[in-house]
Amino acid sequence: MKELQIKKKNKQFFIETWGCQMNEEDSEKLSGMLKKQGYTKALVREYADLIIFNTCCVRENAELKVYGNLGALKKLKEKNPELIIAVCGCMMQQKDMAEAIIKRFPFVDILFGTHNAYKFPEYLNRVKQEAKSVIEVQDKEDGIVEGVPIDRESDVKAFVTIMYGCNNFCTYCIVPYVRGRERSRKPEDIEKEIEDLVSKGYKEITLLGQNVNSYGKDLEPKVTFAELLRRINKIENLERVRFMTSHPKDLTDDVIEAISECDKLCEYIHLPVQSGSTNLLKKMNRNYTKEQYLDLIYKIKKAIPDVAISTDIIVGFPGETEEDFEETLSLAKEVQYDSAFTFIYSRRKGTPADEMEDQIDDTVKHDRFNRLVEVINASSAQKNKEYEGKIIDVLVEGLSKNDEAKLMGRSRTGKLVNFTGDKGSIGKLVNVKITKANSFSLVGEQI
Ligand code: SAH
Ligand code: SF4
Ligand code: F3S
Repeated sequence: MKELQIKKKNKQFFIETWGCQMNEEDSEKLSGMLKKQGYTKALVREYADLIIFNTCCVRENAELKVYGNLGALKKLKEKNPELIIAVCGCMMQQKDMAEAIIKRFPFVDILFGTHNAYKFPEYLNRVKQEAKSVIEVQDKEDGIVEGVPIDRESDVKAFVTIMYGCNNFCTYCIVPYVRGRERSRKPEDIEKEIEDLVSKGYKEITLLGQNVNSYGKDLEPKVTFAELLRRINKIENLERVRFMTSHPKDLTDDVIEAISECDKLCEYIHLPVQSGSTNLLKKMNRNYTKEQYLDLIYKIKKAIPDVAISTDIIVGFPGETEEDFEETLSLAKEVQYDSAFTFIYSRRKGTPADEMEDQIDDTVKHDRFNRLVEVINASSAQKNKEYEGKIIDVLVEGLSKNDEAKLMGRSRTGKLVNFTGDKGSIGKLVNVKITKANSFSLVGEQI
């Protein structure tokens, strides 16, 4: 390792990212800014001159991981006092969190939040000159900052944020507190970014926002999400467009029509339901009933044949009775999700649900979680089975993770496909015959 350090010319950085695609995209921007300053990416933490932890606080588990990993950095810093350690992301936006972190881990050099991440190079220069830690967390968002360099993980598919923040304040959720209010990027800026990506060979983009269906409401003149989708669908040489996340209360008919009519919009919708009990949905401040959600699902399935639907579900929300939970199970059985992210409710300070009485016992939560996962796994396996024998379009992303003799890609419906094929197809769309369906992926051969 010593030899390697002597040989290396450029300073190296390592970013560890927790949380959702928003954080992943922010990390790609941090990486872009650092590469512009002459830094290169380190393959492992141990070789880095700069380590950044981009944190998430959506559930307690996410925070615990950060604490554990920060503790482990102490030794690295002792070995190499020149090492710069930065902590950023959603966790930093919580009240007094940055101060608490520096108290517990005084070797951290830079702490900054989500609203001012674009100023990171400035903080880095400052910490090199000053002998003390830099703590910069802003309560308020700075509006939208365009033109931040970005170094993307993949050469084939890219995330493009279309709006930041969230106005929904679901009672369990901390995101609106740490990501600020909704603000939409101008459609021209989004189109320009996608055109640029396509000119570099990207084939697929995923439009990102906490609630993409309320895109454009804050713009002057107003632009609807469906209009944005139709504009993006016209971009030449772009193959696939996805988006997430949709909120059931805002997913309008014009968006469903756009998906069914526009060739590039993939037949896949992530539509978090959170609970199947109307009573709990009300307490969660979700603004729809179980029946309204199911009606929406039928409308989608009718308008978009072979559509894949995924969801997020929380079990153990305060006051959840066995009957409420059974409503969730029955909804999951009725919808037959292709996949679902299932979560055990986690109390978050500052959110209304944390103050609610009748918090659910841990063993009950775990038991319900296991019962739900069983139902979800059955429908995922069933949905995957329907692909056996079919020939589908796969966008080839690279070598298969488990078996490098194979390739890996995704169907338009978001299914992971491992298949035998020509390595020259990486980055291209190919036809794959599905020979076998596993619970969480498909197996096939290129034809
Ligand atoms: N904006 C998106 C995603 C938000 S966070 C949406 O509205 O769907 C991703 C998921 O985390 C949520 O959909 C929810 O299911 C889960 N989540 C949020 N807060 C949580 C909490 N306190 N405990 C458990 N799960 C939570
Ligand atoms: Fe959280 Fe609800 Fe906003 Fe999603 S819509 S980020 S769950 S507050
Ligand atoms: Fe986590 Fe922040 Fe995303 S709290 S889920 S990284 S918006």
